Amino acid sequence: MTCFPRLLVTLLLLCCVGRLYGNNGCYKSIISFGDSLADTGNLKQLSKIRNREFLVLLPPYGESFLDGSTGRCSNGRLIIDFLAESLGLPLVPPYVHEKKIDNAVAFAQGVNYAVAGATALNSSVLAARGILNPLTNASLEVQFEWFKRSLPSICGNTSDCKNYIGHSLILVGEIGGNDYNYPILYRLPVDELNSLVPLVIDTIISVVNELIEMGARTLVIPGNFPVGCLSSYLTACGSEKEEYDPATGCLVRLNEFAEYHNDVLQTKLNQIREIHPNVNVIYADYYNAAMKIYRSPDKFGFTNGALKACCGGEGPYNMNLTALCGDESTTVCDQPDTYVCWDGIHLTEAAYKIIAKNLYHGPYTTPEFNSLCPASTFQLEGRLSSSI
Ligand SMILES: *[C@@H]1O[C@H](CO)[C@@H](O)[C@H](O)[C@H]1NC(C)=O
Ligand SMILES: *[C@@H]1O[C@H](CO)[C@@H](O)[C@H](O)[C@H]1NC(C)=O
Ligand SMILES: *[C@@H]1O[C@H](CO)[C@@H](O)[C@H](O)[C@H]1NC(C)=O
Ligand SMILES: *[C@@H]1O[C@H](CO)[C@@H](O)[C@H](O)[C@H]1NC(C)=O
Repeated sequence: MTCFPRLLVTLLLLCCVGRLYGNNGCYKSIISFGDSLADTGNLKQLSKIRNREFLVLLPPYGESFLDGSTGRCSNGRLIIDFLAESLGLPLVPPYVHEKKIDNAVAFAQGVNYAVAGATALNSSVLAARGILNPLTNASLEVQFEWFKRSLPSICGNTSDCKNYIGHSLILVGEIGGNDYNYPILYRLPVDELNSLVPLVIDTIISVVNELIEMGARTLVIPGNFPVGCLSSYLTACGSEKEEYDPATGCLVRLNEFAEYHNDVLQTKLNQIREIHPNVNVIYADYYNAAMKIYRSPDKFGFTNGALKACCGGEGPYNMNLTALCGDESTTVCDQPDTYVCWDGIHLTEAAYKIIAKNLYHGPYTTPEFNSLCPASTFQLEGRLSSSI
C-alpha cells in the first residue's frame, strides 16, 4: 500500500522531468539521408515490397532491440537512435512503408530516407566504372528525390515546408563509405579509389547546398569511419605487405584513405560556412569519435577487443567473408556489449552509444553540437555511462 503512492510520485516526477528536459526544443524533427549507419528500416521495407530478403535484416540483427528485428544493421540502436532519444524526439521512422499512411502525421517529428548499402553516387555512375551494388540503387540523389517528392504530403505548401525544414536537424550521411567499400572489396587500384573522392564529395555538397536553399538551418554532415579497423577489411585486405597501426592493429592504408575523404569534405564544408554564415553546418568526426574506442577498448568495457566481430565465423577477426552474420553457419557472441564490431562492417549498439555521446555530448563535432543545442538530456543508462 505504501509503495503505491511513492511509485506514483516517482512516475509523475519522471513524467515531468521528461516534459521539462525531454524535448529540449532545439529541433522539431530529424530528417536523415545515408546508408546502413542510419537506416532504421528502409531496406527492410524495400526488400519486403520486392520480395527479397537480405541477411542483414534477419536475426540476430536487432536482437538487443526493443522489439527484435528492425531492419537496423546492428544488434540494437544506431547513432541516429541515440541522437533522437537525447533530443527527446521519437526514433526516426523509415520513409519507405508498405501500407498507406498519413505522411503529415507519421513524419511530423522526423523522416529517414537512409538505405542500407546506399552509395553517394548513382548506381549508373558507379556501374560505368565496373562497380556494381548488390543491395540497392537508392543513392543519395535518389533519396533526395524521394524527399522532394514527399515534402508536400509531409509539410504542405512551400512556405510551410520551409518552416519544417528550417526547424529540423538534417543529417546528410554518413554517406560515401559504400562508394569506396565495394571497390575496396573488389580490390580496384588505389588510383581508381582516389578518383572517386571528388565525385562523392561533390554529390554530398550539392545536396547540402540544395537543402540550404530550401531553408535548412542546421545540418550535420558526418565523415567516414576508420574502415581499416573493420574486421571484414582486415580479413579481405590484410597481408604481410600491409602496414598495421601498432596502437590499434588497424590497416593504415585504409584509415588514411578515410581521413583523405574527410579532409576533402571538411574543406568544402568550410567554403559553405563562409557563404552561409547563418547556417549551422556541423561536421561530425566519426573517424576520431570511433578511434577513441579503438585506441583503448578496455577503458570502455570492450573486453573482447575492438577488432573481432561479435557475429561471424572463424579466424583471427571472427570473420568469414563467404559466410556473413545471419548465415546458418555463423555464430553470435553472448555479450555483444563487450564487442565493438557487430558483423564485420557495422558496430554494436554499445559502440554506437559511446560514439553518439562522443559526438553530440563531446568534442567530435565542428562547431560543437552542444554549443548550438545543449544536449543536457543525453541519457546513457547502465554500465556504459560509468565508463565514459
Ligand atoms: C538497380 O537498377 C538496375 C537498372 O535499373 C536494375 O537492373 C537493378 O536490378 C537495380 N538493383 C537493385 C538492387 O535494385
Ligand atoms: C542520379 O539520379 C537522380 C535520381 O534518379 C537523378 O535526378 C540525377 O540526375 C542522377 N544524377 C546523375 C549524375 O546521374
Ligand atoms: C500555406 O498553408 C498555410 C496553412 O497550412 C496557410 O496559412 C498559408 O497561407 C499558405 N501559404 C501560401 C503561400 O500558400
Ligand atoms: C567459411 O564459410 C564457408 C561456408 O560456410 C566454409 O565452407 C568455410 O570452411 C569457412 N572458412 C573458414 C576459414 O572457416
